[in-house]
Amino acid sequence: MKIAVIGTGYVGITTAASLGELGHQVIGVDIDREKISKLSKGILPIYEPGVEELIQEQLRDKTLFFTTDISEAVKESEIIFIAVGTPSLPNGQPNMTYVEDVAKELGKSIGEYKIVVNKSTVPVGTADRVKELIISEIRQRKLQVAVDVISNPEFLQEGKALQDARKPDRIVIGSDSEVAKEKMCKLYEKVDAPLFITTPRNAEMIKYASNAFLATKISYINEIAKLCDLLRVDVTDVAKGMGLDKRIGPHFLQAGVGYGGSCFPKDVAALYSMGKNAKMEMSILRQVQEVNNSQPEWLLEQMSNKLKGFHGKRVALLGLAFKPDTDDIREAPSLKLIPLLLQAGAFVIAYDPIVHSKIKDRFPDIILAKTAYQAIKNTDAILLCTEWKEFLYLDWLKVKEEMKGQHVFDARNVLPQKELESYGFLYWGVGRNSSAN
Ligand code: UDX
Repeated sequence: MKIAVIGTGYVGITTAASLGELGHQVIGVDIDREKISKLSKGILPIYEPGVEELIQEQLRDKTLFFTTDISEAVKESEIIFIAVGTPSLPNGQPNMTYVEDVAKELGKSIGEYKIVVNKSTVPVGTADRVKELIISEIRQRKLQVAVDVISNPEFLQEGKALQDARKPDRIVIGSDSEVAKEKMCKLYEKVDAPLFITTPRNAEMIKYASNAFLATKISYINEIAKLCDLLRVDVTDVAKGMGLDKRIGPHFLQAGVGYGGSCFPKDVAALYSMGKNAKMEMSILRQVQEVNNSQPEWLLEQMSNKLKGFHGKRVALLGLAFKPDTDDIREAPSLKLIPLLLQAGAFVIAYDPIVHSKIKDRFPDIILAKTAYQAIKNTDAILLCTEWKEFLYLDWLKVKEEMKGQHVFDARNVLPQKELESYGFLYWGVGRNSSAN
């Protein structure tokens, strides 16, 4: 099938690559000329394992093209995906300007029946709104053209987007049109996953409700972790024991420094404000956000207690990305930890395998190390903030020799506690019965 994907951000690029992998002809569209010129050469603005290779292969095979010309892409495609950003406004509501601008542009170009698919995470009712905008532009051109606007939310996790696209838990299609439903089923026929077909409004809610539920699980386990910390209980064992119950499941019960990224913080805020608009206070979501926002401060308080204050202390911050295998620092916990550490008088020596200049531009007062070993040299404490694989396999004997202090703060509960303690480190994990307590 011939597909256009509008927006070449994280969602757009991974959507284009995975649809191409299914054998479809894809045109990626963006208004950013420089981005399109780079993408046309196979240079990606994001880091996502496997995607660059796939894009380069599809460019070579000429099954994928990039353009800034939306009307050309519309003319060539049967299905048009909208995959532009919906960033949070200060009031928590998503900024719908980009989606609406694309809808208007589509209305200026569509001359025959098209299926428009919303991939962007959008409030309930957006499919109807997008359709209205498209039809109104078409009418201004004195044309009568049928358009179906449907919802097909993405559930890709950064760092393993391709894996998720190849074998998703489900594909949700929200459509009121039989023709569009059939086409979408055909589009995904090679994907081994259950298709859940529903209305556009239901599909839009499924996306928000899913992300907010996962965020709730994280805040819940983080709150349990705080109590574990006080009661000398190990939250990692608690989570394992809980997760064995099939009704609970083992996923998203990893206590840590809180959730970040481009989705959870934004989507929880958006759902909360959707409730407010409907005159309903979603008190659970308010708490989920509060627990998450307070997690970095709570963590630094624990550190400060163990280190007897931060003044003049050298802290190695390992990991800056909001999670491993991505260069994304949007809402990353590191962005909250760095200013708090600096304010408290610590020297911060940070290291991340991929994130470099964008963090230094933001925090000129930190030192950016080239390796993890360089970062930990002569430091009083290590704070592991992102669980990159390379941190899990550090040579801890060497680390011990290079460090000045003994404290290792594991904000992701991923380090081998017993091993570290046997080397003489004072280990602290989030809600673990730690030697440093
Ligand atoms: C999320 C959803 O998982 C995905 O379905 C949706 O399409 C986009 O949003 P993503 O933001 O890529 O994906 O990351 P995810 O792996 O879900 O993690 C989000 C945040 O939660 C990260 O900061 C992660 O470190 C944190 N997290 C996750 C925890 O703190 N504990 C956990 O148990 C799981």
